[in-house]
Amino acid sequence: MDVRIDGKVALVTGASRGIGLAIAAELARSGARVMLSSRKPEALAAAVATIDGETAWHAANAGDEAQAAECVAATVARFGAVDVLVNNAATNPYMGPTIDVDRPRLDKTVAVNWAGPLTWSHLAWHASMREHGGAIQETYGVPVEAIVEGIRHGVRKVNIDTDIRLAMTGAMRRAMARDPGEFDPRKFLKDAMAAARDLCKSRFEAFGCSGQAPRIKPLPLERIAARYA
Ligand SMILES: NC(=O)c1ccc[n+]([C@@H]2O[C@H](COP(=O)([O-])OP(=O)(O)OC[C@H]3O[C@@H](n4cnc5c(N)ncnc54)[C@H](OP(=O)(O)O)[C@@H]3O)[C@@H](O)[C@H]2O)c1
Repeated sequence: MDVRIDGKVALVTGASRGIGLAIAAELARSGARVMLSSRKPEALAAAVATIDGETAWHAANAGDEAQAAECVAATVARFGAVDVLVNNAATNPYMGPTIDVDRPRLDKTVAVNWAGPLTWSHLAWHASMREHGGAIQETYGVPVEAIVEGIRHGVRKVNIDTDIRLAMTGAMRRAMARDPGEFDPRKFLKDAMAAARDLCKSRFEAFGCSGQAPRIKPLPLERIAARYA
């Protein structure tokens, strides 16, 4: 499926590598003019060089309001607008029991992960979107390695619903793009079920749950229902 957003201006934070760089490259491939941002100028210069299309970079710490304002202003100065903002940058300076987090790392996490997206959205809204419209995409989630580390420190309830939904939706979109003439949802759902199964298998293996089913005690439905009554 080829979605065109020719001429639109996108600003992506955390864009020097990983998911942010992949998003920036895809936006450029779809015709957008893209401003890449992260903290390190040399990493940004190298990232921009890997993308075909109209791009620029501006270094800014996503947790620093003044730097964010400068980056949004630089985007408007360079490209004339901000139509798409992707708040992708996030930080994970502390891993371990929450009870032991120290104040500097707590402050950094709050500034970048919590206040950051609100600040950047506020700035983009007032600099351009309020007048011209636009879209702000959030990317949420926790890397699998961080979950595995959390399990080692006692986390016992891990939710993978969103991962499963993303895997299933991706599989359905791929199937529809592969054969646009297909209209039987059973065909898309077959791919979606396979994607869900593969995702569950890889997560269960990563989390150390595979092979543990015999240890789960079966309960009759009435007892389960009573728990939720
Ligand atoms: N990888 C996964 O499995 C996964 C899963 C779920 C969610 N996520 C989330 O998806 C996002 C990207 O993940 P990723 O794996 O692509 O991360 P990554 O490879 O570690 O890249 C992080 C990017 O963010 C930038 N960055 C880090 N701290 C920043 C800050 N304070 N201000 C501005 N830029 C900053 C980095 O560049 P500089 O060092 O130059 O600043 C880099 O461009 C994050 O929000 C992450 O939490 C990842």
